[in-house]
Amino acid sequence: MHTFEELSALFSETFEKTHFPQEPHTLYQPNNYFLSLGGKRLRPILCLMANELFGDIHPDAWNVATAVELFHNFTLIHDDIMDKAPLRRGKQTVHTKYNESTAILAGDVMMIRAYEYISRIDVSLIQRILELFNHTAVAVCEGQQLDMDFEQRNDVTMEEYLGMITQKTSVLLAASLQMGGILGGGSFGNLDLLYQAGKKIGLAFQVQDDYLDAFGDPEKFGKQAGGDILANKKTFLLIKALGEVKGTQKEELNGLLAGNDPDKVNRVLKIYKDCNIDNWAIELKHRFLNEALQHFDDMAVVSKRKTPLKGLAQQLVKREN
Ligand code: IPE
Ligand code: IPE
Ligand code: MG
Ligand code: MG
Ligand code: MG
Repeated sequence: MHTFEELSALFSETFEKTHFPQEPHTLYQPNNYFLSLGGKRLRPILCLMANELFGDIHPDAWNVATAVELFHNFTLIHDDIMDKAPLRRGKQTVHTKYNESTAILAGDVMMIRAYEYISRIDVSLIQRILELFNHTAVAVCEGQQLDMDFEQRNDVTMEEYLGMITQKTSVLLAASLQMGGILGGGSFGNLDLLYQAGKKIGLAFQVQDDYLDAFGDPEKFGKQAGGDILANKKTFLLIKALGEVKGTQKEELNGLLAGNDPDKVNRVLKIYKDCNIDNWAIELKHRFLNEALQHFDDMAVVSKRKTPLKGLAQQLVKREN
């Protein structure tokens, strides 16, 4: 069994080789640039940790971990186009450093490369993994579309928000865990619990992401401060604020959403603070974290094997980047 740091180092060794040829460099250099910016490599580590619940790391777990990380990076390159984001991992996004058309193709080829790693998996396992991978990829697209649709609406409910973040974020974390479990030969019950736990970790993770987008330290977070506010993203912060504000503050918030006040970010942040968003964020994250931990507890696996996963789940809700 390995710790997060050990798995992180081991995964980096396999991952940080070239995934792309030299030419045309106008296509592949953007991909190499993006992968060189790092990232937390969370999803592959979830896959490897889940695999280790059931014994030594299965050789195909490296293929799945690589595929999942490439797929995730593809979603980020395209997400940054959709979100008009200038910064990612503290550096320029691919579409701003190069151009949009290149970023679309760079993302496409990154996704295809992800599938190439899936195609290497042992034939006895590939069907189950591929089915889950495809199902997940479709859900992410659906979640991303809802995320954009919600920008245009001011009546998005908390339930709709949770459904949307389940699709755009949680299912990939859940699938990363479950694919590790499938390769480990986990029972149906354990695999289901892994998936449920992943979904809850994903909810807590996206809640923290939305919180940091508003209140994080931009130096550490590595993304544009207040990007979600500028895009009228229906994060839990905005949904909560829309439900809480009254009188002149309500008019102010609606006006800020409709117009383009140069001080929009600061003014919306002030309203969030007045609505006590901090406490709400903490409550929401801890609710999902505790549910995830409960799912891990319910798994029929020797409890000491669960320690790294439970520790990681706890760290994620406190993350600053
Ligand atoms: C960013 O994911 C996208 C979300 C689902 C919030 P990460 O925060 O895992 O991104 P990197 O890979 O560490 O940069
Ligand atoms: C992330 O949502 C979802 C995917 C990338 C699929 P965000 O748009 O909040 O992610 P960041 O904040 O740009 O990383
Ligand atoms: Mg984004
Ligand atoms: Mg987005
Ligand atoms: Mg975000």
